[in-house]
Amino acid sequence: MTVDADAPVATTGNGRTVCVTGAGGFIASWLVKLLLEKGYSVKGTVRNPDDPKNAHLKAMDGAAERLTLCKADLLDYEALREAISGCEGVFHTASPVTDDPEQMVEPAVRGTRYVINAAADAGTVRRLVFTSSIGAVTMDPNRGPDVVVDESCWSDLEFCKNTKNWYCYGKAVAEQAAWEMAKERGMELAVVNPVLVMGPLLQPQVNASIAHVLKYLDGSVKRYTNAVQAYVDVRDVAEAHLRVYEADSAAGQRFICAERVLHREDVVRILGKLFPEYPVPNKCSDEVNPRKKPYNFSNQRLRDLGVQFRPVSQSLYDTVKSLQEKGHLLVIPEQLY
Ligand SMILES: NC(=O)c1ccc[n+]([C@@H]2O[C@H](COP(=O)([O-])OP(=O)(O)OC[C@H]3O[C@@H](n4cnc5c(N)ncnc54)[C@H](OP(=O)(O)O)[C@@H]3O)[C@@H](O)[C@H]2O)c1
Repeated sequence: MTVDADAPVATTGNGRTVCVTGAGGFIASWLVKLLLEKGYSVKGTVRNPDDPKNAHLKAMDGAAERLTLCKADLLDYEALREAISGCEGVFHTASPVTDDPEQMVEPAVRGTRYVINAAADAGTVRRLVFTSSIGAVTMDPNRGPDVVVDESCWSDLEFCKNTKNWYCYGKAVAEQAAWEMAKERGMELAVVNPVLVMGPLLQPQVNASIAHVLKYLDGSVKRYTNAVQAYVDVRDVAEAHLRVYEADSAAGQRFICAERVLHREDVVRILGKLFPEYPVPNKCSDEVNPRKKPYNFSNQRLRDLGVQFRPVSQSLYDTVKSLQEKGHLLVIPEQLY
């Protein structure tokens, strides 16, 4: 199926209430903004509704009338149940983003089970969209170099454990738990698997994936690594979530959300060209091994739903501009470089 990319999203949210977990996060903030723009009423879970870091949510257009912030930790089933009650959809984006196994695995996995159980218990939820990760897809040392990474791929849990990649391990186990629990409880589930997410920030603090870009601009790293990574813009990730929620055909499917795979050398080259005033590294930390090759992937499923991915260079540009505007990166006057 191919959808006209210029067509508006098929349905509007008028009169419909959805829950977004971890509403103050980088991706979730853009999702809440988009849902409000589409006319949805949103119940957003945050750990502390009065924390100034969530003020940007309350300031969004439509928030005064249609956004309710609900206090909920992922390990608090009752609070999640309360937040999800009365909703027709749930976007489960909240997750720790860390490689510390104790902080990562338990909240990611148990929290996901709680959210699906709470959604099933609510009796009103039509569909749940879970934000997984490419980390649940690509971590497989036995994948051949010519394999196109698509939604049929799963990370190898033993490999994640052995390489102490606890974030990918936690996301993969959480996604598995989501599929199992949804089946057990008869819930309609769809999963978005974003790659590294960049783009402008709505929230005041720098999240992990934005720190990945910031470190190449603020002088905190002197060399780039010999590694490849796929990238996508946060606005496209938010739109992917909405389209996956609204499209009937999306039920029961995973969706790889990626624009391009780049070597770190490409990332620093783009940044250095766009922003020559910053000390962007131009040397690789690995002068021995051959340059890592990008993997092939397919984002066809989301393109079929009408998502048009912004080019990664645009996204990098907007990331840096946003970091400057939010005061995370010094603006260097032109005469000084
Ligand atoms: N950014 C990326 O590159 C990327 C790529 C692929 C997948 N993802 C996934 O996308 C989702 C959002 O990521 P993000 O980049 O937007 O990260 P983020 O800005 O760090 O947001 C994570 C959110 O989860 C909440 N959270 C963490 N632990 C929690 C707990 N125990 N109870 C309740 N809430 C909790 C955080 O709340 P607090 O603010 O209170 O800490 C925050 O709102 C995550 O599931 C992540 O795994 C992200």
